[in-house]
Amino acid sequence: MADVEVLADAAVLIDGERIAWVGPRRDAPKEGAQHAAPLQVVEITGVLFPGFIDCHTHAVFGAPRLDDQERRALGVDYKAIAAAGGGILQSVRDVRGRPEAELESLTRSRLTALIAHGATTIEVKSGYGLELEAELKQLRVIRRLAGDLPATLVPTFLGAHEVPPEYRGKRAAYVQLVCEEMIPVVAREGLAKSCDIFCEPGVFSVAESRQVLTAARQHGLAVKLHADELEGSGGAELAAELGALSADHLAAISDAGIKALAASATVAVVLPATMIFLGKRSQAPARRLIEAGAAVALATDYNPGTSPTMSLPLVMAFGVSQLGLRHAEVVTAVTINAAAALGLASDRGQIAPGCVADMVLAAVDDWREVAYWMGEDVVSAVWTAGSACPAK
Ligand code: NIG
Ligand code: FE
Repeated sequence: MADVEVLADAAVLIDGERIAWVGPRRDAPKEGAQHAAPLQVVEITGVLFPGFIDCHTHAVFGAPRLDDQERRALGVDYKAIAAAGGGILQSVRDVRGRPEAELESLTRSRLTALIAHGATTIEVKSGYGLELEAELKQLRVIRRLAGDLPATLVPTFLGAHEVPPEYRGKRAAYVQLVCEEMIPVVAREGLAKSCDIFCEPGVFSVAESRQVLTAARQHGLAVKLHADELEGSGGAELAAELGALSADHLAAISDAGIKALAASATVAVVLPATMIFLGKRSQAPARRLIEAGAAVALATDYNPGTSPTMSLPLVMAFGVSQLGLRHAEVVTAVTINAAAALGLASDRGQIAPGCVADMVLAAVDDWREVAYWMGEDVVSAVWTAGSACPAK
């Protein structure tokens, strides 16, 4: 992960939506050399990165959860707030009651801000519906915005984000509903690429997670997990066992979990902004994960309850200062490794021939500054699929 190639005075040749060539400017193919079409030359100053990939967001929601934030400041913890009807269930009431068009316009402006901060591929989860129609409503919003916004949106079904209030005391029936009704519809309508679950003591157990994700795989969905976020329960081990694309959070991962991820192709997605926003002193052992041989990615976890940040560069700065990662490692973590967490590593996350021409320009002199100016918007231009984004 620390092995990134940095070119000075470089040039990139884009052909349509893909990168055709990259190398020193003096070696750049001249007009007419390989292509009949006239070359359009764009001179840029700064550092050009592969488009950043935000591989974990919950961007479809209504209102921010300001009361939760203040209650936490006064000493009530995330799980106690949730048990009192705040937390995820507050966003669920909101999303269920909000017209689809309104949800779409809120999500459009939030995703536009993520793109402006350099995210060119964004995973977006449902999970604030927890009933078929409201989950589908969120996934339809993602699908429509995927057609409109200048970024690739990757939809994930998270119907098992929490047990909804009408199933309190009947959790097995809710798990059955997710497996037998929701997953088949979501898969049939092509509304999600993956299925996620909040595998956490007090939310969904390892056994319930295995049941839901096995059903998802049977319907052709890839799987990923919110694993070992606040208390360890073996979520990382389950992710490795199931061949999940990723295991996410991992602040409470065990040594056995680290070993299991290191021995698997499952990406360890670490979300440092979440622990900071929750006021936690601890972070996932990203350094130990890397040293054990796991692939680590970083993401915003953008959501109204635990991580209302729209900036991957801020998360990269936290990667260095909070997780003990090197500059090159945080760049790898938001590009090629984040692509792998979405099953897209074959043609995203690098400036290399054949890759989708998603690129981000940072107005800095030294590439390491992208993870240095904490909270500053250093992204000065964004290209997706070869075209300049109007968001910048
Ligand atoms: O990734 N941990 C579960 N899900 C989100 C939080 C969602 C919420 O609080 O609304 C997370 O942190
Ligand atoms: Fe999350």
